[in-house]
Formats: sequence, structure tokens, C-alpha cells
Amino acid sequence: MLLSIPDLLTPVQVAESRALLENERWVDGRITAGHQGARVKDNEQLPPDSVAAQKVGALILQALGKNPLFMSAALPLHVLPPLFNRYSGGQTFGTHVDGSIRSLPNGQRIRTDMSCTLFFANPDEYDGGELIVEDTYGSKSVKLPAGHMILYPATSLHRVTPVTRGTRLCSFFWLQSMIRDDGKRALLFDMDVAIQRFGTENATHPSVVTLTGVYHNLLRQWAEM
Ligand code: NI
Repeated sequence: MLLSIPDLLTPVQVAESRALLENERWVDGRITAGHQGARVKDNEQLPPDSVAAQKVGALILQALGKNPLFMSAALPLHVLPPLFNRYSGGQTFGTHVDGSIRSLPNGQRIRTDMSCTLFFANPDEYDGGELIVEDTYGSKSVKLPAGHMILYPATSLHRVTPVTRGTRLCSFFWLQSMIRDDGKRALLFDMDVAIQRFGTENATHPSVVTLTGVYHNLLRQWAEM
């Protein structure tokens, strides 16, 4: 499942975050890449312990926790601290797959089920920089307005096309879902959306509570914690 989460951050939050991020010291992005990734990766990243990364990262985590669309689609168990990257002057990240296991700052290991990219620059500020995700039904090209986020399966092959004008500034991070399987997670999401719609249009229908029960009982059977 590839899902866009619109307006995760407000325009004011985006502007304040950008001011913080742009004033930080950026380093070569290869520091967090594995063997395969390092060969195809050419961008800059913020050191995870920098003040801007910590502050804006906390803001993002807070916004995610209050976003019903994200919570329903991701069913998150752990969200890794957001990282930040930027591309300019032809920089690119060739086809790669994200590492399957990453560590939290406390050393706890997290399985990366879903990848997230949150955009901090608007599409008209730079040329190129599309995120291309190879999905079951072919490649999808993603370039979203500032403040919007894309959620996609971490199992996918993906790349970022060369940025030939301006700067692409993004946050990227991973999460472990309570539902490991992408197909089961997508099914629960479809069901949740349909029940919400049904409940809004027909709140007193007895099937609303029956279907809500089915949703929770499936979640109870499949959730891993
Ligand atoms: Ni990646």
C-alpha cells in the first residue's frame, strides 16, 4: 500500500522547521547507508543528534500521533526517530531497498515494515527529486507539497531521481507496524475506512457495531507486540 497523508504539518510548522533545518551543519548521506545503498546514494543528511533533527523530529512524531489517517493505515508499534536529507546539484539516490532491521537510540531493534517520506519543499522549488516506488502494479512517482507525507512498504525497491534545480528537503523514517504483513494491513485499513463512512451515514444501523467488532477481532488475531 502506497498512501499519501496530506497536511501532516501546517504551513507555519513547515516554515519554522525549514528555518531550523537550513541553519544546521549537513554531512554526507553515506554515513547511514549499508553496502548496497552507499554505492548508489549521493545526498546530504543531518546528524541525528543535531538540535534541529531532534526538535523537528519531535514535532513530526507528535503530528503523527494525532493523525487518524496515519494511525489507521500504519497501525504503528514503534516509529524510529525521523532523519532528514536534502538533494541539490544533480544529487540522486539510485535503486535500493531499505535495511530490514534498525536500532532505536536505546539499542532496541525494530523491524522496518513501512517507510515514510515527509516533504519540506514544494514541488515548484526544485526539478527532479521524484521518489519512484516499485509497487505490485508498476512504478509510482511521488512528489508532494510541503507538509505532506507518503507512506509505502519498506519491502519495495525505490529511488530518488536527480535534483537538477533547487533543493529537495525531506524527512525520512521507518516504523514497525503491529501488522507485519502489508496485505493484512491494507485489508484492515480498507475495512476501517468503510466502517467509518458507514457509521457517519447510518450511525444507528446494527451492522456498524457488528463490523466494528469484526475489525477489532481481526486486529486482535493478527497484532504482534
Ligand atoms: Ni530508501
